[in-house]
Amino acid sequence: MSQHLFSPFSMKGITLRNRIGVSPMCQYSAEDGTPNDWHLVHLGSRAVGGAGLIIAEATAVEARGRISPEDLGIYKDEHIPPFRRITDFIRKQGAVPGIQLAHAGRKASTYSPWKQRVSGVAVPDEDGGWEVVGPGNTPFSKNHRIPRELSPEEIADIQESFRLATLRAREAGFEWIEFHAAHGYLAHSFYSPLSNQRTDRYGGSFDNRIRFVLETVRLMRKEWPEELPFTVRLSCSDWVEGGWTLEDSVDLAKRLKEEGVDLIDCSSGGNIPKAPIPVGAGYQVPFSETIRHSAKIATAAVGLITHGMQADDIIRNGRADLVLLGREMLRDPYWPLRASQQVHQRDAVPVPPQYERGWN
Ligand code: FNR
Repeated sequence: MSQHLFSPFSMKGITLRNRIGVSPMCQYSAEDGTPNDWHLVHLGSRAVGGAGLIIAEATAVEARGRISPEDLGIYKDEHIPPFRRITDFIRKQGAVPGIQLAHAGRKASTYSPWKQRVSGVAVPDEDGGWEVVGPGNTPFSKNHRIPRELSPEEIADIQESFRLATLRAREAGFEWIEFHAAHGYLAHSFYSPLSNQRTDRYGGSFDNRIRFVLETVRLMRKEWPEELPFTVRLSCSDWVEGGWTLEDSVDLAKRLKEEGVDLIDCSSGGNIPKAPIPVGAGYQVPFSETIRHSAKIATAAVGLITHGMQADDIIRNGRADLVLLGREMLRDPYWPLRASQQVHQRDAVPVPPQYERGWN
């Protein structure tokens, strides 16, 4: 039987109640990485709203890996209990709690959107900023800090931080993990030829440029229970001549599958400012479709998916196993309920009993 938006999705030992996930979205609301009531209410209300999967925002594996000083982090054991409070609540609402583990690399130490004067402006030392690192010392933009090139020993230290963060994520009750290897952050900046000019074993050939991702995933996968999904978000194209391509992504997805990765979350862009991205309805869905069919791995589609019929069509036609929604979920935490009406499956999403009188 063909699948649709409201078919349950089973992967390894977990089952999502439908094919709808909340895409990870930075809230710029933490202090020293620690989740608080905002994160509980933000993520919790979207679990109440009926999504099957709730992925917490890019969560830094070391303090230096935060995009902004207000990013979430999971770089010390003290972060575990406040995350556990959130995962417990999400699970009680029938959704699966997920987390995206990240390192911002050369795009770290920037002001939160509503605190900055110009987009992506670096936070200086005197305002709490820090040194940023990357595969080389080319900055992302003229507004960003000049990164310091990582030595092989320092690369190993960051990979160890990803390993430890994976253990903490499990301890905190997450059941779905996503390694953030997209949007120009550290992992993407290693595999893209636009940002990696290294001449050692982490740069140059395709195999060398993907080494950081493969080694890190290998370390993390060992620590993450085999029966729980391990996923990777890729930027499937740099959208410029001479950059990373969809064909590269298919090759990398095949290699990741061999490492025990269960699903590829198909995003794009973010590694150069002002790339000519043809933004429009479902514009990244073709990446998901190609990777799903060519690398024979489960995928999630994301990017300007806003209507129930559109999302249902993506699943019914085998273009993705899941859809992730970002901005539409900010506008409407009850999007799954709305979508169930749009596709004429009113009963597909149970209304929380506390709210039933509002929906009768
Ligand atoms: C994002 N996005 C994002 N992506 C990611 O991988 N990690 C993150 O932490 C964030 N943070 C973030 C914050 C906010 C406020 C927005 C709007 C977006 C990108 C997001 O997950 C998604 O991929 C894009 O927004 C495209 O999907 P939509 O919004 O068109 O459904």
